[in-house]
Amino acid sequence: MNDTRVATVLAYHTRSKHALDRYAAGPGTLDWEAQPKAFRDWAGAQQIGLPRAVVVSEISWDALPVARPSLPLNTSNLGSLLRLCVGLTAWKEYAGSRWSLRAHPSSGNLHPTETWLISSGVAGLEDGLYHYQNLHHALERRAWGSAPQESGVWLGFSSIHWREAWKYGERAFRYCQLDLGHVLAAVSYAAALHGWRPRLLNLDTAAVARCLGLDREADFVGVEGEEAEVIVALDADAGVLPTSWQHWAGKPGLLDARPLYQWPVIEKVAEATHGAPPATDSLLTHSTTEHIFKADIAASQVILQRRSAQAFDGESVMPHAVFKRILTGLLPGGSPVWELWPHTARVHPVLLVHRVEGVAPGLYVMPRSEPAKASLQTAFRETFSWQLADPELPLLQLVAARAGKTARTLSCHQDIATQCAVTFMMVAEFAGPIAADPAAYRHLHWEAGMLGHVITLEAEAAGWRGTGIGCFFDDADHEVLGLKDDQFQVIYHYAIGMAVDDPRLLTLPAYE
Ligand SMILES: Cc1cc2nc3c(=O)[nH]c(=O)nc-3n(C[C@H](O)[C@H](O)[C@H](O)COP(=O)(O)O)c2cc1C
Repeated sequence: MNDTRVATVLAYHTRSKHALDRYAAGPGTLDWEAQPKAFRDWAGAQQIGLPRAVVVSEISWDALPVARPSLPLNTSNLGSLLRLCVGLTAWKEYAGSRWSLRAHPSSGNLHPTETWLISSGVAGLEDGLYHYQNLHHALERRAWGSAPQESGVWLGFSSIHWREAWKYGERAFRYCQLDLGHVLAAVSYAAALHGWRPRLLNLDTAAVARCLGLDREADFVGVEGEEAEVIVALDADAGVLPTSWQHWAGKPGLLDARPLYQWPVIEKVAEATHGAPPATDSLLTHSTTEHIFKADIAASQVILQRRSAQAFDGESVMPHAVFKRILTGLLPGGSPVWELWPHTARVHPVLLVHRVEGVAPGLYVMPRSEPAKASLQTAFRETFSWQLADPELPLLQLVAARAGKTARTLSCHQDIATQCAVTFMMVAEFAGPIAADPAAYRHLHWEAGMLGHVITLEAEAAGWRGTGIGCFFDDADHEVLGLKDDQFQVIYHYAIGMAVDDPRLLTLPAYE
């Protein structure tokens, strides 16, 4: 049984690779008018508007890792938290088109992740299961009526694959999982700001589906299904998750009335990767690193102004202190994100450094665990030099070389990969974890997305910007690194640099 699932995952990964001479199967044509709706309504569910104020705007980015007393669980504080992790942050307008952006990035801005909230004992909110409606910053009451429980709040997440598959075809499942990693990281930062210590529940996919009502098949007849992902207890002290409700309301809206293509392999890999995230046996506390670079900016401002760069200037040199600060955030304990994901690191950044003060252009690796260093060294190209490049970070130079053109080619010929200061490749420990548990395929992508989110927010706080790069030529990356099998696979790229804004875009507020 496990063998079949492993085979399904590995086969999916191989067929969804982009190659220099062939892109993974995707739609031949895109009808932009027929793009699936960005927001799902639950018709018939009572809608409860949430307070929009950010209640933690006084905390600076530098103060973020410092533990602070938990704010009480009430609708003001929950409204503030949701704005800072999954809420809208702006509308953009250009040539008669208008689109919204959120606190976390998403491949193609398609936002496959849906957010759910389960509340128990929250002042001003009836106990129940709610769908978070990002468009109006409101909760839609999906279920209620349970025996009184201890108080707590849980956020649940599901993916609507079609939102991504519509545009990206078979590779879309990977993007849904990377997006979810960004969302989980966004939750970590927002929770830390409110003094909450979030924790992933060790529930399998079927249990998550049950808790979020996603297994109520009759409700989803004729509309796109939602794939259960994960539930996060907002605070480590939360009581027992309420799971049974007496009353249900609402019918999910249809997102795409005329889907042109079908990508059945996505549902197959989704099923093969059902499972639970690794159990958390201890809570990791992030260390308070004394950074040389001071980010004297409000943390909520960093989060609300975050954007993906659509172009970089191709010349700015990143100060060494900013570079070090970003890399420190990726190490265990370096960011609140690793409190939510306190597991042995399995995804390791390789860096193509183009323009960083005091760092020779070239290829570098930063193994995030001690054992990974040895296994990467065995797997990578024999000719790499493995020279320690920093006295305080586990950063090793592999080759000194100008790699701008290579980075561009590897990243599906995208200019951002060469105009930036650094391009990252996220190298995942792959075949081993998936053979042990096929659900690891999702979790590795989450970890890569979390890394991307730390990079992006640290860069933003320092006046720089990041962009996720889901489009890259998988085996061309492996060729550069000398990887000969699937012990390791690159699963994400990232770029950071000095952004060039597009002056043609008009920016409007998220909520009027
Ligand atoms: C998983 C993932 C993959 C992405 N891939 C690319 C990419 O290949 N090229 C690109 O220019 N932007 C890419 N992006 C950036 C998105 O286009 C961007 O997040 C989206 O347009 C929303 O804009 P915002 O991040 O400014 O909110 C990616 C983002 C994510 C999360």
